Amino acid sequence: MISKFKGRDVISVNDFSRDEIDFILDYSSLFELKKEGVEELMKNKIMLPAFFENSSRTTLSFDVAMRRLGGQVSDFDPERSSRGKGESLWDTAITINNYSFDVVVVRERRDGVARLFADIIEAPVINAGDGINEHPTQTFLDLYTIKKKIGRIDGLEIAIVGDLKYGRTVHSLANALKKYKDCKVYFISPQETKLTESFVNQLKEDKLNFEELDIKNLEDILGKIDAIYMTRVQRERFPEGVEGEFQYKKVISQYCLTKDMLDRAKLRKNFIILHPRPRRQELPKSLDNTPYSAYIKEQEKAGLYVRMGLINLIAGDKFLC
Ligand code: CP
Repeated sequence: MISKFKGRDVISVNDFSRDEIDFILDYSSLFELKKEGVEELMKNKIMLPAFFENSSRTTLSFDVAMRRLGGQVSDFDPERSSRGKGESLWDTAITINNYSFDVVVVRERRDGVARLFADIIEAPVINAGDGINEHPTQTFLDLYTIKKKIGRIDGLEIAIVGDLKYGRTVHSLANALKKYKDCKVYFISPQETKLTESFVNQLKEDKLNFEELDIKNLEDILGKIDAIYMTRVQRERFPEGVEGEFQYKKVISQYCLTKDMLDRAKLRKNFIILHPRPRRQELPKSLDNTPYSAYIKEQEKAGLYVRMGLINLIAGDKFLC
């Protein structure tokens, strides 16, 4: 299986089969066990993190992942790059290609930029989030966390809540869950941030078992699910100006999870709360110390293991066995 990953771009979850995703998760778990020899795996290799949009978790975990594997990380800063002089992304990608990085990680505010980079750059390109489209490595770490905390992905019942229109992590997660057996997904969102019609049609075509629920209170679903995946309303993707501000204010507090709700609900054994973060009021800090808060530690640590595994698989010559 390892040879199937060599040189591959990671642009969409749809580019990977279920078996390949399971292999990525299993292989990544070796890095959680901190096997000896990890620091030799990417020696003399260089990663370029090209983050044209803000990030904390993704950029930090990719950086630490590459360094822990013995590789080097370029300190390219898009804020100080020639993009500021009006250079096109196309030309930036050509320049990146000329310096022969071993792996390139890209985040940009527009859909499709990761695919554009992959078309131009010979090294494997990892999509770290392109506009409202996808964030595949986030999904790999979400699945890793689910598997670790609940023990399986097949048969999972999950509510995905919040900004389903602009939330790229939601799109990647839904694309992954349709590959697993007997999953049931409840999509819950304000009217303004529902899944787009075309995405819903695609999920139907791909036979994901899902419902778009129109409930007022998250309490109505908590006892029927194994996991709740909360998401932030993405202010930065709303239209500019008064209309965008109005829409945002209308939806920002519509679906917030509270400790009182959890205390009152009859929750399933192993129930967990996930959130890709950053968070706003939909996930108050009072939830952080509950036994359900997988988002505070496991999910972010999973980001390191999964990114170590993935970098090694697509850009390495030596592997753990
Ligand atoms: N989950 C995630 O992508 O977080 P960052 O935006 O902080 O990288």
